[in-house]
Amino acid sequence: MEKKKFYLTTPIYYPSAEFHIGHCYTTIIADSIARYKRLSGFDVFFQTGTDEHGQKIERKAMDAGVSPKEYVDKIILNAKDLWKSLGISYDYFIRTSDEDHKKRVQEIFKKMYDSGDIYKSEYKGLYCTPCESFWTEAQLVDGKCPDCGRDVEEAHEEAYFFKLSKYQKKLEEFYEANPNFLLPLSRKNEMINNFIKPGLDDLCVSRTSFTWGIPVSFDEKHVVYVWVDALSNYITSLGYPEESEMFKKFWPADLHLVGKEIVRFHAIIWPAMLMSLGIELPKCVFGHGWLIIDGGKISKSVGNYKDPREYINEYGVDAVRYFALREVPFGNDGNFSEDALIARTNADLVNNLGNLVNRTIAMVNKYFDGIVSNPGVKEDVDDALVVYANELKKLVDNKMNSYKVNEALEDIFELLKRANKYIDETTPWILAKDETKKDRLASVLYNLLESIRIASVLLRAFIPSTSDKIFNMLNTSKIDFESLSFGNLETEIKLNESEILFNRIEK
Ligand code: MSP
Repeated sequence: MEKKKFYLTTPIYYPSAEFHIGHCYTTIIADSIARYKRLSGFDVFFQTGTDEHGQKIERKAMDAGVSPKEYVDKIILNAKDLWKSLGISYDYFIRTSDEDHKKRVQEIFKKMYDSGDIYKSEYKGLYCTPCESFWTEAQLVDGKCPDCGRDVEEAHEEAYFFKLSKYQKKLEEFYEANPNFLLPLSRKNEMINNFIKPGLDDLCVSRTSFTWGIPVSFDEKHVVYVWVDALSNYITSLGYPEESEMFKKFWPADLHLVGKEIVRFHAIIWPAMLMSLGIELPKCVFGHGWLIIDGGKISKSVGNYKDPREYINEYGVDAVRYFALREVPFGNDGNFSEDALIARTNADLVNNLGNLVNRTIAMVNKYFDGIVSNPGVKEDVDDALVVYANELKKLVDNKMNSYKVNEALEDIFELLKRANKYIDETTPWILAKDETKKDRLASVLYNLLESIRIASVLLRAFIPSTSDKIFNMLNTSKIDFESLSFGNLETEIKLNESEILFNRIEK
């Protein structure tokens, strides 16, 4: 049977400065969803990349005395290294400076022009360069950009416009018919009530005031507006507008994961562009919240952040991944601090997971020379563990299908908590004193190992290198989704040497 496909994307990041923990946040979550989908049997295409054009980057490069391309190349090299150290399993990294992307964007622009959805006129308005966004007077907050709070500039020039207004009604109907297109639901209400319903203005989609961008093929003094260029990445990477196998297979995207401040582009402009092109809309846009530091957004321009690799080197990659995935209810804003990261690591990874694994393996070594067996001596106390372990796959699958990543992790850690409690309830060290209880002791330890294995299979999506270490210690090959029912752990095999998974962090 052919596998079901799943196409998910992160936003393509501006390589205007080195990436920070906020970019890691989006990317780690996307990676875990991609890994989870692969684990649960999907044919996944996971894409990330960089959004390189625009005046802001042109100016930064000028300040640094290099060409824009040289400027971004260096940052991208570093970003790829960062993704590697975080274990990001992307299938494709798109750069908007790629030649085939540029050519395809020109074709997309021309298609919309030919169909009459793009027309030439004059632009007068207010422009926020850091955000690459146009605003009307009414949208400003205290005269500043409503997204970043910085100054806006008056712009006045000949420009091409996209007939966004034409799509207002269609967008309303689309939202009506697809209630789960934009998640969480609070963001959907905001988009519909604050943006779509009050009316959509046509959108200025070309600029003449700078050159670092994709020229409009039929009028070369114009460059394509960066958001049209950037949003198109989701289809140009698949070969669109060419008739490609990749496009046929993977479009429409199943999930665009984006931060809340760019929901507007993905929930209004992008769908309208796709309607104009006559192709299907993505199945879901999820607008997540921000990681904040001391109440403010982590920002390249504010500079309130460390290189994320410092955290990885200090605490380990899975501590950083786990924190990003677990700490903040997905969709909300959440605070990032090293203290919070340390507390999370100590409580969950050191205590619940690490200690459980090391204690259990130590007991199997001590009482059975490391040999696993399952004589099947049951007692009532086992039920709370075994029944829950068998249900876990379904619980996690439900949570992941609605992108409640932190709740999926909570459910997995509930199994580990129960396993820890089970040790206290069954007191293996007392069973070990009584020769007649040997089979019961072996059964108890088997139940513990099996709970650890089941949790670790699911944890592969979130903290993969820790799962690998555990599988190695358990000496098991039962690590896939199909193995997720209780009793699959091999018997009569010897466990491998145990290693410490996480050291307690002392501040
Ligand atoms: N280039 C555009 C996206 C184009 S997508 C077609 C862009 N780039 S960005 O680099 O500014 O931001 C990219 C993503 O990183 C956004 O989704 C944004 O929300 C996310 N984050 C940046 N800082 C963040 C935090 N502090 N916390 C969480 N996510 C943050 O916008």
